[in-house]
Amino acid sequence: MVIRIFAGVFTCALLTFTGHPLSHASDSAELGFQLSRQLCSRCHVIGEFNRMGGIGNSPSFTWMVKSDDWRERFLTFYSRRPHPVFTRVPGYALWSDVEPYYPPFQITLDEIDLIVAYVETLRDTQ
Ligand code: HEC
Repeated sequence: MVIRIFAGVFTCALLTFTGHPLSHASDSAELGFQLSRQLCSRCHVIGEFNRMGGIGNSPSFTWMVKSDDWRERFLTFYSRRPHPVFTRVPGYALWSDVEPYYPPFQITLDEIDLIVAYVETLRDTQ
């Protein structure tokens, strides 16, 4: 009984703290969406958000997520062309010293995990 009440209070506190009843997974996906919008949507179509956007030679996130190794590709995108020219990951050596043709941005491995959580949600929508 005491445990039940405690669990109830704890859950309420948790929901109050996080602000909404979303699970941790969808929080990550939401943050991943924000990051994708900020950093990737200029070139990539990242979902409904910019269905007609992106640049022609960049594959859309919704298309890439269909491949079996999409997770691997996203986790290592910064070492795959053309990203090494404009993407910096702290703690990693610069992959390329070519003059960036696109404003360079920095991204951490944790942030890449969030993007992967977002991309995962695209698997079911198309
Ligand atoms: C300046 C434009 C540009 C930006 C910004 C950009 N990309 Fe890309 N990306 C490309 C292009 C172009 C390709 C296609 C490369 C090819 O086919 O050789 C690509 C390919 C990819 C691929 C597939 C790579 C492979 O080899 O399979 C992934 C995954 C990817 N991008 C993820 C991202 C993520 C995540 C972001 C944001 C954090 C991002 N990209 C930002 C231009 C961009």
